[in-house]
Amino acid sequence: MEDPGYIYATKLLEDIGAEIIRVPVDDDGMIVSLGIKNAENAKLAIVTPSHHSPLGMTLSSSRRVELLNWAGVNDSWIVEDDYDGEYRYSGYPLPSLKSLDQYDRVIYAGSFSKTLFPSLRLGYVVVPQKLVDDFTEKLSLLRANYSFKAQLIVNDFIAEGHFSKHLNKMRALYAERRELTSQCLADVLEDRIEITTTKNGTHFVAKLRNNESDIEIVNSFNKLGYGIHALSNWTTDTVRNGLIIGFTNVSNKKIAESATIDLRNAFLRFNA
Ligand SMILES: Cc1ncc(COP(=O)(O)O)c(C=O)c1O
Repeated sequence: MEDPGYIYATKLLEDIGAEIIRVPVDDDGMIVSLGIKNAENAKLAIVTPSHHSPLGMTLSSSRRVELLNWAGVNDSWIVEDDYDGEYRYSGYPLPSLKSLDQYDRVIYAGSFSKTLFPSLRLGYVVVPQKLVDDFTEKLSLLRANYSFKAQLIVNDFIAEGHFSKHLNKMRALYAERRELTSQCLADVLEDRIEITTTKNGTHFVAKLRNNESDIEIVNSFNKLGYGIHALSNWTTDTVRNGLIIGFTNVSNKKIAESATIDLRNAFLRFNA
């Protein structure tokens, strides 16, 4: 697992008793060579190559090849979690691991949570040929949890061209909301934070410049009804701290400003 990495995937793996090896990331995503060094015989690697969760960088081409070769040689699996790859505001995406996967070791997972809405509870996986029977069997045990009606509606929504129009519209809207939120944070919190993450996705990470506790600031801020995350809860790296902030529902300047002032007050309470 990437370190930092998606907190709910980590918790789920812990819950099923998996032995988790955390692999540090840098500006090119997971440091695959370190992963191989520390866990050569891992059964599974879980990665977010198009937009690292939560830091936002892209897994480089050479590391994609390195990871695929590792899985091919070791008969290991890779989960490619492409949870928000639709939201790129500049540049072109690199080819997915799945599309480069000559060994058929990649389980590609996507979700409509961010492109439509989370309570739809609809996602999809593209599985290696060898796993189709296993997936079909396991899925039949979860029958109660999926709705054909929602799938049919989403199918028509895509087939009739509405989905791609919707994505184009949301890309422009979210790019604006990202700008609005980050600008407001920079104006109000000035040199307390630094937003370093790439301009993609539906959230960014604001690094804390002073030695403040992201957990305490987040807890104090979220008491007002917000739902941001503390980066240090997503990592074993004690040096990393920051605020993971979703911006897609920040619909105007007034909302951005009042949320930012609430956040500044959480900083002030911490330093009081
Ligand atoms: C890293 C990551 N993976 C997967 C998901 C998909 O979650 P779901 O489809 O269960 O809503 C999310 C949602 O936020 C995510 O952030």
